[in-house]
Amino acid sequence: MRTLREACFGQLFASPVLEHVWADAAALNVALRERILAHARHDPGTQQTNIGGWHSAVGRLDFCGEAGMRLIEHMGAMTEEATRRLYAVHGGGRGSVSWALSAWANVSWKGHSNGVHTHPGATWSGVYYVDDGDCAPGADDTAIHLLDPNAARSNVFFPELSCQPVRFRPQPGLMILFPSYVPHHVPPHTGDRPRISIAFNVRKEPFP
Ligand SMILES: [Fe+2]
Repeated sequence: MRTLREACFGQLFASPVLEHVWADAAALNVALRERILAHARHDPGTQQTNIGGWHSAVGRLDFCGEAGMRLIEHMGAMTEEATRRLYAVHGGGRGSVSWALSAWANVSWKGHSNGVHTHPGATWSGVYYVDDGDCAPGADDTAIHLLDPNAARSNVFFPELSCQPVRFRPQPGLMILFPSYVPHHVPPHTGDRPRISIAFNVRKEPFP
């Protein structure tokens, strides 16, 4: 309508996401891949959101040696950067904040997947890719799917628009960070090599 040409149209309640490909990934991933697969051969792991595959115990990646320590530093840097940018947009951030970080490794062989879940009790969650598992170029499998966290919107408000998942295809060295309330899942892996990723939670203290 002509009378509404000057009306302002915007979007409310977006969710932040930070993605980055680390420059030292090539060397880092050689060490991480070797350490993770060696550990998975001897350690039974734990059953969490994984449907098949291997999920390490949650901790500080001690079984990954120096490469694990380096990756934990990268996770901390992503957390600081994402939080700094969030505060730059919304204001705030003058109080002192400390972070409690926990991480774990995932290995998926063909057919293995992760069901839809969130990470309650954390502030940010993220994932880093060591090996894409030889997934076919352009294939939808092995990508992490982030879902609209607003269930009311995705169920009743133009669901054909708002229900579309946002996909991030695994790329060695890629790290993504998103709010822990964002539901996500990983479809069954179809590649011939194991898909190897390292996931992490960061909890702001005091929480929330
Ligand atoms: Fe997850």
